[in-house]
Order: sequence, then C-alpha cells, then structure tokens
Amino acid sequence: MKIFVPRDAAARSVGADEVAERITTAVEASGRDIEIVRNGSRGMLWLEPLVEVETAGGRVGYGPVAPEDVDGLIAGGLFDGTGAHLGLVEELPWMKRQQRLTFSRVGVIDPRSGDDHAEHQGNKGLRAALALTPAEVVEEVVASGLRGRGGAGFPTGIKWRTVLGAESDLKFVCCNADEGDSGTFADRMLIEGDPFTLIEGMTIAAYAVGATEGYVYLRSEYPDAVEALNAAIRTAREHGWLGSNILGSDLTFDLHVRVGAGAYICGEETSMLESLEGKRGMVRAKPPIPALEGLFGRPTVVNNVLSLATIPTILANGAKTYAAYGMGRSLGTNVFQLGGNIARGGIVETAFGITLGELVNDLGGGTASKRPVRAVQVGGPLGAYLPVEQFDLPMDYESFAAAGAMVGHGGIVVFDETVDMSAMARFAFEFCAEESCGKCTPCRVGAVRGVETIDRIRRGEDRKKNLVLLDDLCDLMTDGSLCAMGGLTPLPVRSAVRHFGEDFNA
Ligand code: NAI
Ligand code: SF4
Repeated sequence: MKIFVPRDAAARSVGADEVAERITTAVEASGRDIEIVRNGSRGMLWLEPLVEVETAGGRVGYGPVAPEDVDGLIAGGLFDGTGAHLGLVEELPWMKRQQRLTFSRVGVIDPRSGDDHAEHQGNKGLRAALALTPAEVVEEVVASGLRGRGGAGFPTGIKWRTVLGAESDLKFVCCNADEGDSGTFADRMLIEGDPFTLIEGMTIAAYAVGATEGYVYLRSEYPDAVEALNAAIRTAREHGWLGSNILGSDLTFDLHVRVGAGAYICGEETSMLESLEGKRGMVRAKPPIPALEGLFGRPTVVNNVLSLATIPTILANGAKTYAAYGMGRSLGTNVFQLGGNIARGGIVETAFGITLGELVNDLGGGTASKRPVRAVQVGGPLGAYLPVEQFDLPMDYESFAAAGAMVGHGGIVVFDETVDMSAMARFAFEFCAEESCGKCTPCRVGAVRGVETIDRIRRGEDRKKNLVLLDDLCDLMTDGSLCAMGGLTPLPVRSAVRHFGEDFNA
C-alpha cells in the first residue's frame, strides 16, 4: 500500500515536506505496512499539497492538506483511502479534460525510482528506436509533426535530419532547461516529476543523430530539479540506460547537468552554448545554425525539455498516434501553464486547438481575485497581451501568429480589470533592458529608449508624437535585433497599445 506526497517544488513551497513527515511518523507509530512515495505534482497547484492514497479502485486524493490537517485526516481513515477525500484523482474534471502524453507519468511515478520508470513503460520508446535505423527514427519524429516546444515551433524532426546529415567525429545533444519565461514551469515539473523520460528522449535523440554526449542546461533557480535530474542520471547509469552498450545495443551516450547562473538570455540557444563552453552568455550570429556548428563548433541538437520528453511517447506508440491529436500544423499535445491571477493555476496537457477561453475560464476558473479577466499574456514576457474578445482563439501556432501573438512555451498569465496595460508595456522594455546581452544596438539601446518613450506617453507629453515614435522604435527592434529578445519585445508593447489603447491616455 502506498501514500503519495509530492516532492515537487511548488508543493514543497506550501508545506508538502512537513505533511510527508507527519504522515511518515504516524505510519511508523501505527505499525502498518505503508510506503510513503514522494511523487511529482499532478499540476493542480491549488490543491497542493495533494496527498494521494492507493486503493483497490485507484488513487484517491486529499488536498490541499496543511500539516495540521494530517492527524484529523488519519483519524478519518486516510490510511484506508476513506474519509473526506476529493475522489479518484484521475477522475477529477481537471484531469479528465486532459490528454497527458508528455506528462503521462508526472505525479504518477516515484521520480527517484528506476524500477518504477521501467514498470510504467519506461524505455519502451528507446527500445522501439533501437529497432529502427537512425534515419528511420528521424523520419518518425518528422512524421509525428512535433514542433519545438521551447517557443519557436521549428519542426524537431527536420532539425534532427540536419544534424544526422552533418559530417563530424563528434556530435552533441543539448537540452535547454533554462526555462526563463515568466509564468512557465512545465520544464521544471517534468524534470522534478519524471526525469527518466527526459533522459530517454535525449538518448533517442543521440541515437538518431549519432551523438555520444549530452548536456542539460538547467537554471540555478531550480535547485530541486537539479537534484532530481542528477539522481536520475546516476540511476540510469546503474541500470545501463546511459553509458556504453545501452540496453544491450552498440549505443554509447552519457549525460551531464550544467547549472546556469541566472541570465535570461542563456535560454537563447546560442547564448546557452556559449555558457556551456564556459564563456559569458552572449548571442552568436546565425548562420551557422547549431545543428551544423553548435557546442564546441560541432553539430548539435538543441531542444527544449518538453520536445525531448515527448520523443519517448512518439517512438513507443508511433508517429501516427501522436499526430492524430491537434489541428492544422500544430500536431500532438502541448503542455499549457496557467498562472498569474487565476483561480486554478497549474499544468494542462491537451491537444492543440483548445481555445484560450476554455483554458482560462473552464479549466482555470477565471481570476483568483474574482474580478473579470481583462488581459492574458501568452508565451512569456515576450508574448502578446490578448483581450477577452480573443478568447475564441485556438491554441495553434498559425492562428496565434495570424492574431499578432505567439503560443511560445505555452505559458498563460492572467490579469484582472485592475491591470494598467501601459505599465505592462513599460515592463516589457524594462525587462529587455535588464536582460539584453548588449551585443546589438536596437535591443541594448532601444529597450532603454522604449522605457523613456512610454514614460512620456504615461505623463501625457506629446502623446501622439510619442506613440508614432514608439511604433518606429518597435519596427526597428523587430527588424534589426539579432535575436528574439530584442526582436520580440515589441510584441507585448504593440499588443498592449492595440488592444488597451485607453491605458495610454495620461
Ligand atoms: P528560431 O526560429 O531562430 O529557431 C528555432 C530553432 O530552429 C533553433 O533551434 C534553430 O537553430 C533551428 N533551426 C532553424 N533553421 C534550421 C534548419 N534549417 N535546420 C535545423 N535547425 C534549424 O527561434 P529561436 O531564436 O531559437 O527561439 C525564439 C523563440 O524562443 C521565441 O519564439 C520564444 O517563444 C522562445 N522563448 C522561449 C523561452 C523559454 O523560456 N522557453 C524564453 C524566451 C524565448
Ligand atoms: Fe543581445 Fe538583445 Fe541583440 Fe539578442 S537582441 S543579441 S539579447 S542585444
């Protein structure tokens, strides 16, 4: 019999460790044969700490459980899965609405147990890949329609094809886990809740392109994820899932974690490579693309955590199964993250095509403040602000692009009617000024000029003239910046002016 108490950082931040300690002490005192498992989070953050108890009918949930609730819950029958619980966790409306493929094991398994991974179809994707040729694996990923989940949406299989075709004695697979976008936390939750899936995905990538070494660039703000991933890598080595002759094949691949130092720009792939090489995180000009000249100048796969963690399910169940989800050219599922002023925040993995309104209102339950929603920002601090009038917009790369917005890494941050959108536009420039690597002028200088211009508009100085100037500046930054940092900053600014122009009247 098992009781699950999440070890996820979000759950720990609201007392999960103390809850686990109290339950452990009570189990010991009772002399019952109950194992306490520290699982990942199911992603229903308003229910954390969510305690789950294994019963004959499935896992029932109790939450949110405060440390002082534990004694009462045990007296009410927690050890037997009875008393005032939420019902079967898998049957909760929030869970039922989802199609969990990438996150299928997050919250389910013990992220520290290789055996648990193996028992939950772990390495099924890797075994399927090893039965194919590398080129066949690449074509399977192309056929799945998987697009880069870090934000740009570039087809993952096409990227791999470029690396496979590049001639080199040494190739690398690098995972970008520098999840710097505000309002995003899916990479962290995946690594803390199911690190073996990421390792498996990177190993499949290595086999597909002919790489022997991999690096995960993980942000220092995620110490729990660093610990979880390092523990999983050690376990994977012990099981023969990393190293030489992986699963009895000729494949040799090993993996290392490198911890970032807190710069947002190191999430840009070429800055990340510079940082991995031990240099200051500065953006490199492209071309050459990392697929041809990446880490230490060698052909390198650079993919986001979610892209790589989706590979095992694609190989295990076939590209066609994966591609059956979604709409248009946005195939499969995406892991949306609901945050900001929202009643029910957390992780929603569902097929592309769900609307913004369904995510924010139906799943998220509107704002936490109970005031009307006024704006949502989709795709991180460089994403557009959208008004409720656009809540019918389907989550799809092309539909968002047509609306002057982007899906990005899938973060959705909600604001209620009290938000001042000119302040949010100012924040976009401030953020860019703070995080710019300084290499190119439109971004380094433009961001500072942007703050000054918005300040003048907010003070009511030459409003018309300064709005034209703001528009010019946005054009210059979009067209003249070397990377997405400066190039996308105009997106939140322009969308704020377009949809919430009244906030720019002094
Ligand atoms: P990009 O469009 O320049 O490149 C996308 C990817 O495709 C890169 O890995 C690039 O090297 C690769 N690529 C392009 N042509 C290729 C080819 N012919 N063969 C093989 N690979 C090729 O976009 P970029 O600058 O990498 O990313 C920008 C996006 O990052 C933004 O849209 C934003 O959503 C996202 N972003 C995500 C953050 C996060 O925390 N996850 C933070 C900031 C931005
Ligand atoms: Fe650096 Fe900004 Fe130029 Fe990107 S756009 S290279 S972050 S200065």
